[in-house]
Amino acid sequence: NKGNYEHYMQKEIHEQPESLKTTMRGRLIRGGSCKAKTVLLGGLKDHFKTIRRSRRIVFIGCGTSYNAALAARPILEELSGVPVTMEIASDLLDRQGPIYREDTAVFVSQSGETADTLHALEYALENGALCVGITNTVGSAIARHTHCGVHINAGAEIGVASTKAYTSQIVVMAMLALAIGGDSITSQTRREAIIDGLFDLPNKVREVLKLDQEMKDLAKLLIAEQSLLVFGRGYNYATALEGALKVKEVALMHSEGMLAGEMKHGPLALVDENLTIIVIATRDSCFSKQQSVIQQLHARKGRLIVMCSKGDAVSACPGGFGRVIEVPQVEDCLQPVINIVPLQLLAYHLTVLRGYNVDQPRNLAKSVTTQ
Ligand code: UD1
Ligand code: M6R
Repeated sequence: NKGNYEHYMQKEIHEQPESLKTTMRGRLIRGGSCKAKTVLLGGLKDHFKTIRRSRRIVFIGCGTSYNAALAARPILEELSGVPVTMEIASDLLDRQGPIYREDTAVFVSQSGETADTLHALEYALENGALCVGITNTVGSAIARHTHCGVHINAGAEIGVASTKAYTSQIVVMAMLALAIGGDSITSQTRREAIIDGLFDLPNKVREVLKLDQEMKDLAKLLIAEQSLLVFGRGYNYATALEGALKVKEVALMHSEGMLAGEMKHGPLALVDENLTIIVIATRDSCFSKQQSVIQQLHARKGRLIVMCSKGDAVSACPGGFGRVIEVPQVEDCLQPVINIVPLQLLAYHLTVLRGYNVDQPRNLAKSVTTQ
């Protein structure tokens, strides 16, 4: 049921304040005056000891689910103290890459039925790793075959383009990082700031959704573009990949997400006055590096769209060149949840304006059950 919306993708984008609440329900504990703020993941409580002792955490997934894990990787590295690596399921299988008994392998999948991810799970089980599932579908193959896991509880996702599952996956993995981190004193202030940030996140998502009309206007300007690049780094490298994936899969426009740190190692050659580039430059420890990326792209006459924190347009885009998308600022590791929303809206409006099928893009299936 699409309710008042024209398409499921549109409904699912706008539903995110509610889906995020459902994801966190019962799992975030804001203790009383003397009790600490904590996270409770029922499905993992008997396994944290093993996870903390593992030699590394390997995230495995495809498409948007892989991107969600990539977005959560920095906070997992920071709080867990365990090395975190990333695997695209098909690539792990192609290489028959190393998975060990001492590994915790985390399988991220909205549907829980993706063939590549499921085969990678079988492979990791054979190799003796602890296998953890993060899925949206109770009773799915991945939920059943993993040793333990977390349901993201985002509600059914119908649109082929994953939107609300992505933000809920990131939130679950941020909670996972908090839970693995335990109650170490050194990171207590940081952990409490993240928990407060999680409580407030649905409100912040509601706020960023107000950019809907602005993104529609931007889509009108971009309707006939050949190509759209998206540059991000740090916490928002994943946002660049995921924003570009949305644009290519539904709006059928060539789009690439790129690590801004790689710009000078090749992609800069593409830049001229005909190329539109979105640069994600919200405030975090990478901000000054992004400022210099913006300067260099501007010097090559790239057509810039800069996503920055509210009130930061002058620092992010001095001289007023380019267009600015201002988003509410949240705790750095949660910022990817906010920053993806305008890009989801942009992909949606581009698709409608270009006259393509929003919920069922050509050649694609909601769950890819063949290899
Ligand atoms: C569970 C209940 C929830 C209830 C809550 C009350 C289910 C599905 N969930 O939620 O309805 O309100 O207790 O305490 O009954 N699992 C996997 N692989 C996965 C995902 C999950 O093995 O990919 C396992 C978990 O380890 C756990 C079970 O499935 O044993 C349920 O997981 P989850 O729904 O996340 O647990 P709770 O949040 O505790
Ligand atoms: O159900 P899964 O999360 O395992 O699906 C993985 C990918 O097939 C999926 O995310 C795909 O990339 C989406 N269509 C992206 O919007």
